[in-house]
Amino acid sequence: MIKLDERLKTVASMVREGSRVADIGTDHAYLIAYLIEKGICPRGIAADLRKGPLENARQTVIEAGLTDKVELILSDGLQKIKENSCDDIVLAGMGGNLIAEILSKAQWIKNENINIVAQPMTHAEVLRQFFLDNGFEILKEKTATDGRRCYCTMSARYTGQAQKHGISYIYTGQLFENNDEITFRYIDKMLTTLKKKHSALMSAGRTDDENLGAVIDEIEEKMEKTKWLL
Ligand SMILES: C[S@@+](CC[C@H](N)C(=O)[O-])C[C@H]1O[C@@H](n2cnc3c(N)ncnc32)[C@H](O)[C@@H]1O
Repeated sequence: MIKLDERLKTVASMVREGSRVADIGTDHAYLIAYLIEKGICPRGIAADLRKGPLENARQTVIEAGLTDKVELILSDGLQKIKENSCDDIVLAGMGGNLIAEILSKAQWIKNENINIVAQPMTHAEVLRQFFLDNGFEILKEKTATDGRRCYCTMSARYTGQAQKHGISYIYTGQLFENNDEITFRYIDKMLTTLKKKHSALMSAGRTDDENLGAVIDEIEEKMEKTKWLL
């Protein structure tokens, strides 16, 4: 049986039961093998840009006896993934910029029946901005830790509706709906990074083009109001 670390377990928990899943940037294909072995998904697609990682995926799929349930596709992002071939799309372990770029190149994902599960390793704010600018609603965010690093996974769906959010939303998304220690740590770490960036700008006499001062104030205000279960 495939065992996942906490990061990938959290990603797996955001995939809908019974959905045909496409794992983009699959590498070892642990996620898709786990989802099928656990009976969460009946079948799926494991796709990667490079041959090496796709070979890793093939090995996992063969060893798990899932060759009839997993289609392996060499693909740059969603380019070779056919519309209507999946219900849930997972993009995990890549940077937020790359995930946003991959999503921006596939218009067919603008479909309210498709659930996108994204776990950016960096620049989650770029991905949230992409979702907001393109009519997607972020439904839920979860956090996980491997003890050292904290990770965030979000699920999003196309609605075509414009949404109104505060200035800090691209940094915290739906995270304030959670009430757990890892989410608190995730936001606290991000706040420290934002403060460092802001004070470096100020000491260099630069303008605060990203309005970081106001972003920091808004996040701190929300943190004070949130009754964290700590
Ligand atoms: C760090 S691994 C993540 C593996 C797995 N998804 C996880 O979260 O553990 C990133 C994978 O994304 C693949 N990748 C990078 N750019 C890609 C693209 N444009 N389209 C598809 N896969 C890509 C890489 O080849 C690599 O196998």
